[in-house]
Amino acid sequence: MGRIVILTGAGISAESGLGTFRDEGGLWSQHRIEDVATPEGFARNPALVHSFYNARRVQSAAAQPNAAHHALARLEAANAGEVTIVTQNVDGLHEAAGSLRVLHMHGTLAGALCSQCDHRWTAPPEMVPGHPCPACAGPTARPDVVWFGEMPYHMDEIWDLLRAADVFAAIGTSGQVYPAAAFVQDATRGGAHTIEINLDPSAVVSDFSETRFGKASELVPLWVDEMLRG
Ligand code: OAD
Repeated sequence: MGRIVILTGAGISAESGLGTFRDEGGLWSQHRIEDVATPEGFARNPALVHSFYNARRVQSAAAQPNAAHHALARLEAANAGEVTIVTQNVDGLHEAAGSLRVLHMHGTLAGALCSQCDHRWTAPPEMVPGHPCPACAGPTARPDVVWFGEMPYHMDEIWDLLRAADVFAAIGTSGQVYPAAAFVQDATRGGAHTIEINLDPSAVVSDFSETRFGKASELVPLWVDEMLRG
């Protein structure tokens, strides 16, 4: 199977009950990105931003992985190739399903970060403005999530993985947020077979060599079975 890089987005967790961002009724129709997902929004109103992520943290901790998360864990466990999941999701459902190599490029709700000294620790269920950093004691704790205008995490490692990939799959992502939306092009330049699995065609659908449309919980297990058959 070679080297497989799988990019996941909110669509893979939709059937676990976690809302996506841009589908009808999604998070970005209820909240303004500028208010809850930018450093400027946090500086203006930290209470609002904490309450947004506190609610998502509680919801995500109660969610269970679905058949798509489990199938990707099965692909990795089969040891037939090197499987890395690069997720834009801040939930922990890939890990809950048993995936081991997971890069959270947009951070994770499970983490807290000190904006002063960069110390990281496990977030409590509820964070509040002025929450002290356990390392430097500054009132500077924030959720360890990447906001618009900030550099996603693990980018050098991800670009190396994409260049070396034999297969690149994008699952449940709308292809509207960069740099993730350009990963298909990076993988194509490296010679990978690229496949999009999504409910609807993404904004970058024409860049993929293969596309499959439907629910992740149905299509991902089928794709994994095919990959394992070789
Ligand atoms: P979006 O909400 O933009 O897109 C979700 C995608 O999942 C859509 O293309 C849907 O068609 C698809 N989808 C929905 N239900 C599905 C299902 N059951 N099975 C398969 N696909 C399904 O979410 P993302 O692309 O993940 O970043 O958004 C990317 C980034 O934008 C997020 O990480 C977040 C957001 O702003 C930050 O906050 C920095």
